[in-house]
Amino acid sequence: MAIPKALLFAILSCICLCNAVLAAREQSDHAAMVARHERWMAQYGRVYKDATEKARRFEIFKANVAFIESFNAGNHKFWLGVNQFADLTNYEFRATKTNKGFIPSTVRVPTTFRYENVSIDTLPATVDWRTKGAVTPIKDQGQCGCCWAFSAVAAMEGIVKLSTGKLIYLSEQELVDCDVHGEDQGCEGGLMDDAFKFIVKNGGLTTESKYPYTAADGKCKGGSNSAATIKGYEDVPANNEAALMKAVANQPVSVAVDGGDMTFQFYSGGVMTGSCGTDLDHGITAIGYGKAGDGTQYWLLKNSWGTTWGENGFLRMEKDISDKRGMCGLAMEPSYPTA
Ligand SMILES: *[C@@H]1O[C@H](CO)[C@@H](O)[C@H](O)[C@H]1NC(C)=O
Repeated sequence: MAIPKALLFAILSCICLCNAVLAAREQSDHAAMVARHERWMAQYGRVYKDATEKARRFEIFKANVAFIESFNAGNHKFWLGVNQFADLTNYEFRATKTNKGFIPSTVRVPTTFRYENVSIDTLPATVDWRTKGAVTPIKDQGQCGCCWAFSAVAAMEGIVKLSTGKLIYLSEQELVDCDVHGEDQGCEGGLMDDAFKFIVKNGGLTTESKYPYTAADGKCKGGSNSAATIKGYEDVPANNEAALMKAVANQPVSVAVDGGDMTFQFYSGGVMTGSCGTDLDHGITAIGYGKAGDGTQYWLLKNSWGTTWGENGFLRMEKDISDKRGMCGLAMEPSYPTA
């Protein structure tokens, strides 16, 4: 059957029109994404060395935005955001923001655990060390893999406040520059326990203002200008969230996590749940715990990626999960300094 000419024309012109509409939409989507990338660059002060690099970064940005939006469209207890890491591939993110300096928990020499006989029933339902003035504001490690120093310092700032009544901003840079023993290698990685050992040997740490952070390895500017010190450190028994709870109820605690997943890279708020790796590569600090509105138990943690990441720099992760290693392995190697 021959299709009447007029109808054929109508069908053809419709196809053309549809294609034109699609093309126009793609073009305006592209323009909107370019504008979004530009706004993001301005917001985070990002400058690229040339047009080629900018085009490459735009494609990564676009793919990350698509990942974030599709994750947020799903049903999760937490959400992601287009933060300062939005033009980095996950591979690049792992390389710069986290470090590979952690040893497996089986290698740790068991220490005493002073909170072992604390009864879980006597612990408060909610702990937030910020409300007790034992947590300094969020810091930013920048392009230096020294999360281990920030984690150790945050735990130390906590115990110093609890034992002396004074909240003293302590120097991460002193650890980065001067603590070169054990696994500790400045921006290339380290261990919180090794940091605590160094601090004891060093007679304490100086203040952040006397030894400011540079986000780079530097020559140790020695001299014992200690502003605060610790007596030692203890490890929380591994893979035991109840033991971790006993410790965190008493002081901020350093924890190692697998911070390499894309959901960690772009975490923006809520209680992180679901699957996560356990290749420990990032040090953060547990500063409390509690229960969300929907009943989900969580750990409250302080990160060192500035305030544009997470909940103004903080993070909540599901607590008491079936995997004994905890969310992202957080119960595998916790430790705390002693006063
Ligand atoms: C816990 O209690 C046991 C048994 O009474 C005791 O041997 C141990 O020293 C206590 N631990 C601490 C850290 O006080």
